[in-house]
Amino acid sequence: MQVMKYLEPFLLSLEKLNEVSARLRKDMIRGLEKHAHHRAAVKMLPTFVRATPDGTEKGDFLALDLGGTNFRVLHVRVMEEEQKMLKMDSQICAIPQEIMLGTGEQLFDHIAACLSEFLDSQNLKGQTLPLGFTFSFPCEQKEIDKSILIRWTKGFNCSGVEGEDVVKLLKEAIHRRGDYDISSVAMVNDTVGTMMSCGYRDQTCEIGMIIGTGTNACYMEEMKNVKRVEGEDGRMCINTEWGGFGDDGSLEDILTEFDKVVDRTSINPGVHTFEKMISGMYLGEIVRLVLMKLTEKKLLFKGEASEALRTPGTFETKFISMIEEPDSGLENAKKILTELGLRWDLVDARVVRLVCETISSRSARLCAAALATIANRILANRGLPHLKTTVGVDGTVYKKHPNYSDKLQKVLHLLAPKCDIKFLVSEDGSGKGAAMVTAVAQRLALQSR
Ligand code: BG6
Ligand code: GLC
Repeated sequence: MQVMKYLEPFLLSLEKLNEVSARLRKDMIRGLEKHAHHRAAVKMLPTFVRATPDGTEKGDFLALDLGGTNFRVLHVRVMEEEQKMLKMDSQICAIPQEIMLGTGEQLFDHIAACLSEFLDSQNLKGQTLPLGFTFSFPCEQKEIDKSILIRWTKGFNCSGVEGEDVVKLLKEAIHRRGDYDISSVAMVNDTVGTMMSCGYRDQTCEIGMIIGTGTNACYMEEMKNVKRVEGEDGRMCINTEWGGFGDDGSLEDILTEFDKVVDRTSINPGVHTFEKMISGMYLGEIVRLVLMKLTEKKLLFKGEASEALRTPGTFETKFISMIEEPDSGLENAKKILTELGLRWDLVDARVVRLVCETISSRSARLCAAALATIANRILANRGLPHLKTTVGVDGTVYKKHPNYSDKLQKVLHLLAPKCDIKFLVSEDGSGKGAAMVTAVAQRLALQSR
């Protein structure tokens, strides 16, 4: 089959995946070094989250959740007696594209305005509550409430924010308004928020993973290995920023011509190579590029593309999930192809489905390799013969695709045979986890007084 000539570069053998995992392992070690972070592709950022909830936390909290598909504002109540965390209410607030690509001041004014509106609707304006801020971008944290944006990723690119403290920018925007205030702030990455919100239900949850718009993971590392933070005892959660894996060229051998086009035409060429092979922001575009190529080679649609197919971004990642549905997949493919203005026959629909399967499988297999690296590291860190652990997961690709999680778990088992890994899907997003981090930070601050 001639089509396979173009799909073969996407097929990664177990041996290759093991190699990829070994490379990531080296990069993770390099990232943990004392002065590594400016050069390191995998940044391994300390998060200053050392403790998981002990059940004595309580109070009301606000949370912001920025960087995934939706920007959310939440009101969370943590109750000591029942060891429960309740989402009192939440609201989704749209962020227009002009703001995603505008100035930092506009972005933070918009966030502060959404929060103001939410506080009004909740009758909370009179109170000064602590706030957990899930900010899903790579940040250099000095403390839990000081978080400097290293660079934007995914669809954001606001001027004047890189190199600045995000907490300061948020507080300034709130003060510019002057109609409400917040008390302490805790900054968390979405992986950390996800791990913490699952950790509340399962004490062995010590890895957080996102496969959504972007991809990333965090895990509990031994403090003695975290060279950039003083102290030898206990553990600290590390935000790996594995999306940046390959930015130094280390994945060159597995990049296809299509991956290179996706990178070149993105708003951040050269940045987040691994993420661009895996996450929701890019998967649909990879499929579109392959379909275009097959059409040019007269292997699809009798060689005739449509205006829509020629336009970047028109093949949405959610189409992949729809086309791979076990029962309705082929029917969905036909509808989608018609909507894209293509003239197809049954063989075309089948080939399109094969392309989708190939691209989503590669994503799942690469994620499995990266997750195996983390699990195997925890196992080695603790000198255990066997590790039982839980991963808290979130993200539309993982949640919505019909067999992504199955594929990921099967390959993971082969690459980390000594680890028994359970997956817990985060139910309410990472905002609750951010509130929990704030609650734990508040408890620790009170205890140290
Ligand atoms: C949400 C979390 O549920 O998932 C966010 O609350 C996270 O913090 C997001 O960023 C990731 O998924 P997606 O697909 O929305 O990018
Ligand atoms: C991007 C961000 C990272 C985030 C991930 C998932 O990779 O850099 O911080 O965790 O997307 O949302």
